[in-house]
Amino acid sequence: MKWIAHRGFSGEAPENTLAAFERAIENGAAGIELDVHVSKDGELTVMHDEHVERTTDGTGWVREMTVPELAELDAGAWFNKNDRGVQRVPLLDDVLAWIPANVLLNVEIKNIPYAYQEIEKKVSDTLVQHYRVENTIVSSFDHACLYRLKEWNSAVKIGLLLNFRPVNMEGYLRLFSPFDVHSLHPHASILQKNDVERWQKQGVSVFPYAVTRKSDVKQMQAFGVNGVISDAPPENL
Ligand code: G3P
Ligand code: CA
Repeated sequence: MKWIAHRGFSGEAPENTLAAFERAIENGAAGIELDVHVSKDGELTVMHDEHVERTTDGTGWVREMTVPELAELDAGAWFNKNDRGVQRVPLLDDVLAWIPANVLLNVEIKNIPYAYQEIEKKVSDTLVQHYRVENTIVSSFDHACLYRLKEWNSAVKIGLLLNFRPVNMEGYLRLFSPFDVHSLHPHASILQKNDVERWQKQGVSVFPYAVTRKSDVKQMQAFGVNGVISDAPPENL
C-alpha cells in the first residue's frame, strides 16, 4: 500500500519539519504531505495551523510574522525534548531544495478560514522555480483556489480534499472543466463501497486521509485506493 506521510512521519517526529520528512523517507514513504500558509513577507511557510502556538515555542499568526521571526521558533521541542533547538519551521523553498526527485510531494494549501491572496500563484511559481511540477500534487479543501491554480498554470496537478461525499462525482468533476483533476483525497470515513472504482473510472486517483487504524488500512486496501495519507506507515498501524 503506497504511503503518503501525513505532515511527514508525524507519528514519530514533529509534524511538518525536515526531521519528519526525512524520517518518512527512511521508513519507505512514497510521498510526503505538508501544509502551507503565507508569512507577513509573502513566503510560503510549512505549518499545519495558521497560528504558531501549538507546534512551536512562539505565539502569533503566521501571516503576521516575517521569515526572520519564524526562523527563531523552535518547531521540535513541543513534540520531543531531543528535537529541542534542532527543528525549525521550514519554508516550501527549503523542502523543495531537499526533497529527492522520486518522492511524491503533496502540498496542501491552507486557505480556509483565512484566505491568502493569490497563494495558488505563489505555490505554482515556487514549484516551477524548483522544476517540481511533475512529481507534485497540490491539494486543498478550497476547491475554488485549486481552480484558480489551474487557470494560472494548467500543468500543476490538483487533488480535491473532501470532507463530504458529492452526490454526483462525475458532475462535480465537470465543474473543473476545461481542466482535469488529478486525484481525490477524501476523509476515509466518507468512502463507500464501489466509490473508489467508480471514481477511478473518471480518470482520478484516490488517496484517503485520516487512516489511523489497521482496520481502516484493510478497508482502504479492499476498496482499491491508490494509497493512503497517514501519520505512520500503514503496515505499522
Ligand atoms: O491532506 C490530508 C489531510 O492533511 C487534511 O487534513 O487537517 O491534517 O491538514 P489536515
Ligand atoms: Ca494537511
